[in-house]
Amino acid sequence: MAASYCLSEAAVSQGSFQDNFNIMWSENHFSTSDDGQIWSLALDKNTGCGFQTKQRYRFGWFSMKLKLVGGDSAGVVTAYYMCTENGAGPTRDELDFEFLGNRTGQPYLIQTNVYKNGVGNREMRHMLWFDPTEDFHTYSVLWNNHQIVFFADRVPVRVYKNDGNASNDFFPNEKPMYLFSSIWNADDWATRGGLEKTNWTKAPFVSSYTNFNVDGCQWEDPYPACVSTTTDNWWDQYNAWHLSDSQKMDYAWVQRNLVVYDYCKDYERFPTLPGECSLSPWD
Ligand SMILES: *[C@@H]1O[C@H](CO)[C@@H](O)[C@H](O)[C@H]1NC(C)=O
Repeated sequence: MAASYCLSEAAVSQGSFQDNFNIMWSENHFSTSDDGQIWSLALDKNTGCGFQTKQRYRFGWFSMKLKLVGGDSAGVVTAYYMCTENGAGPTRDELDFEFLGNRTGQPYLIQTNVYKNGVGNREMRHMLWFDPTEDFHTYSVLWNNHQIVFFADRVPVRVYKNDGNASNDFFPNEKPMYLFSSIWNADDWATRGGLEKTNWTKAPFVSSYTNFNVDGCQWEDPYPACVSTTTDNWWDQYNAWHLSDSQKMDYAWVQRNLVVYDYCKDYERFPTLPGECSLSPWD
């Protein structure tokens, strides 16, 4: 019953902004292109802004194109993340993509993180192989009960595995999540650990979003759709439980060339590494 309900809800969502999203804060810092297809978020000295999906989802493929603030963007963070709630509640689950601005000509970094029941501290940082401020690029998350994979232009940059143990405390898989996008000032930590301050003479800082695409199980309250894993959808099927051979090659290249920080290698911070660090991304 749950399975068939979920199947019927597993539609690809690509409609207009109004169909999919609500503005969370600062409506006046937010604009859409004339054709309604591109959404721009502005940060100035007063505030940033953000939007979120109307729906929650549990498992699926979540994708969006972003073009990030260019030029002198140090201190500015553009985020695109999934979270079980609107806010930093103590038991939230969260999957983060954060884009950390930089001084003109210095490289952007992407930071990813995974929270389960309010606990994060699972940061990774990567460089990109393109300038994310020049064009739109696609950033995606694949989420099923076996793995969470973060992609940039379909290249897997981070793989976060489940160990199959229902009681583990690291793999978010029970609660549905909204998808959020926002821009804000984080010059207390983002760029070179907070050393680089936001240059407000360059404000407003604008990041743009387009091509929102969800192929996932849409949660319906009170009926618990999506409670059981099904294999009716490609993102839940065996092939999506691990990287394909060509994805493994891409992932190996990213691991060799683009990883700037990996919490699983930070023995100073974690004399005993968190349990999930022993799981192999190659399985
Ligand atoms: C910004 O550029 C500096 C200098 O190239 C680099 O060390 C740093 O990792 C870059 N990004 C951030 C977020 O600090």
